[in-house]
Amino acid sequence: MKIDILTLFPEMFPAVLSTGVIGRAAERGLLEFAVTDIRDHTEDKHRKADDYPFGGGAGQLMTAQPIFAAMRALGESPKAAYVSSALSAARRLYLSPRGRLLDQTLAEELSREERLILLCGHYEGVDQRALDAFGFEEVSVGDYVLTGGEVAAMALIDVVCRLVPGVLGSEESHREESVYSGLLEYPQYTRPASYEGTDVPEVLLSGNHRKIELWNFEQALRLTAERRPEMLRAWIAAHYDALDKKKKAIVDDILI
Ligand code: ADE
Repeated sequence: MKIDILTLFPEMFPAVLSTGVIGRAAERGLLEFAVTDIRDHTEDKHRKADDYPFGGGAGQLMTAQPIFAAMRALGESPKAAYVSSALSAARRLYLSPRGRLLDQTLAEELSREERLILLCGHYEGVDQRALDAFGFEEVSVGDYVLTGGEVAAMALIDVVCRLVPGVLGSEESHREESVYSGLLEYPQYTRPASYEGTDVPEVLLSGNHRKIELWNFEQALRLTAERRPEMLRAWIAAHYDALDKKKKAIVDDILI
């Protein structure tokens, strides 16, 4: 997957794109990133990339001209908006609090694209003509307002890239597919077994894999019931029939 990032703050990205799982996948050629400094494309002699909104309003907007120029430099043309991943046009996303909320379903959809272009907004937004001309879809990472789209773009990159085949190791991706996905994660412990007067639950030290599996299952269910009851309902609706007798009993017990 290739991801282009258009930003006024390119210096924010190198650490995120070269570290950890994402950095290793980029080194292996599974992911390719290119960061464009929007300001490099402004025709303004003071490198200005923002201006006051027509009709008034607080703050400044990012102007259309450097965004048009930066997109053209990437080989994109204003009329050839994204149609489908079957065509070569890149999927264009503008990070914005007014966009579609990013969730695992959208992340999975985006992970199947060959190319994404991410536009990071700043100030009070972007001249609408730049968004319309290139068919940018708006994506939000949560119902809160960040100072700019960069941190949102990093979250999107992280979520989407870990779903690209081969990016995660086989052990990690196995967990992803396990029956637990769709539930909150059960609590886990590592050594030492006793620390500052608190002990790891005894069952985890028992070596009895079936007992441990059932315990983990119950903990995941209880945590999900407490924190995300709507998520638990959806999970039960989708998985209950396929559960073995013991697991069904655990679910029944929690639902009482
Ligand atoms: N830019 C500012 N706030 C944002 C958010 N919540 N999601 C995406 N982009 C943003």
